[in-house]
Amino acid sequence: MARPAKILVFGATSAIAFGTAKLFARDGASLYLCARDEEDLKALSADLTVRGAKEVGYSVFNALDKGSIIRAVDDCLKKFPELDGLLIAYGTLPDQGLCETDIEEMRRAVEINFTSPAIILTYIAGHFEKKKQGVIAVISSVAGDRGRQSNYVYGAAKGALTTFLSGLRQRLGKSGVNVITVKPGFVDTPMTAGFKKGLLFVGPDVIAKGIYRAVKTGKSIAYVPWFWRIIMMIIRNIPEKIFIKIKL
Ligand SMILES: NC(=O)c1ccc[n+]([C@@H]2O[C@H](COP(=O)([O-])OP(=O)(O)OC[C@H]3O[C@@H](n4cnc5c(N)ncnc54)[C@H](OP(=O)(O)O)[C@@H]3O)[C@@H](O)[C@H]2O)c1
Repeated sequence: MARPAKILVFGATSAIAFGTAKLFARDGASLYLCARDEEDLKALSADLTVRGAKEVGYSVFNALDKGSIIRAVDDCLKKFPELDGLLIAYGTLPDQGLCETDIEEMRRAVEINFTSPAIILTYIAGHFEKKKQGVIAVISSVAGDRGRQSNYVYGAAKGALTTFLSGLRQRLGKSGVNVITVKPGFVDTPMTAGFKKGLLFVGPDVIAKGIYRAVKTGKSIAYVPWFWRIIMMIIRNIPEKIFIKIKL
């Protein structure tokens, strides 16, 4: 599969997105970065240019502001009408306890982790469909494979995202566009700063390499690291009667 030459990155400040952008910059790709903070975007643009990116543009956006998403996509397509790559890499890990009682917190978590990526994908899908080539990689999570009491609001949003991507893949596959669902396990990033790091944790560059590899090989569903495919197959297959009694 041809490597994308012009890539739009939503959530460019995420540790995983930055790791991935570095790999594509090294290949000489052009990048269009979107994140909440303009100063961060300026610094990232300068860094990725030094690392080999052909051209870098950026837009400020907030996942909770639909208008800013539309503006960012429009500005990107104005700069790169030949856009052939998209990476969506932002998200939040909400406080599950708070989400169980605070309706607004629960709504925000679903909006950031599911509704807003779905808005981006709905708005930009036609561009890829017309172009008849390209690759879209979106970071979901193993948490979306089965709802667990410890994080089912985040898990539900990621599960919805995984389902959305499955349908989009079938639709865009007919136009030669690959849609990749990236499912990381535990990653040591600012998102998990408060977690005790166990054996299953990996660094963001491991996920970045997994995404880069999935793009190059035309993979559709990438569990990263690979062993999460087996772990989640076991978790998905635990009978519900047993599942409700265990603490996960
Ligand atoms: N870390 C893990 O264990 C893990 C596991 C599975 C999946 N994931 C997924 O991996 C992706 C990347 O996360 P990460 O681990 O790299 O964490 P991270 O470094 O903490 O990145 C989170 C990103 O989300 C952005 N963000 C948060 N709220 C936003 C909003 N309202 N609008 C726009 N951007 C917003 C942050 O922007 P600011 O820089 O402005 O704060 C930051 O770029 C996420 O989709 C996450 O769900 C992570």
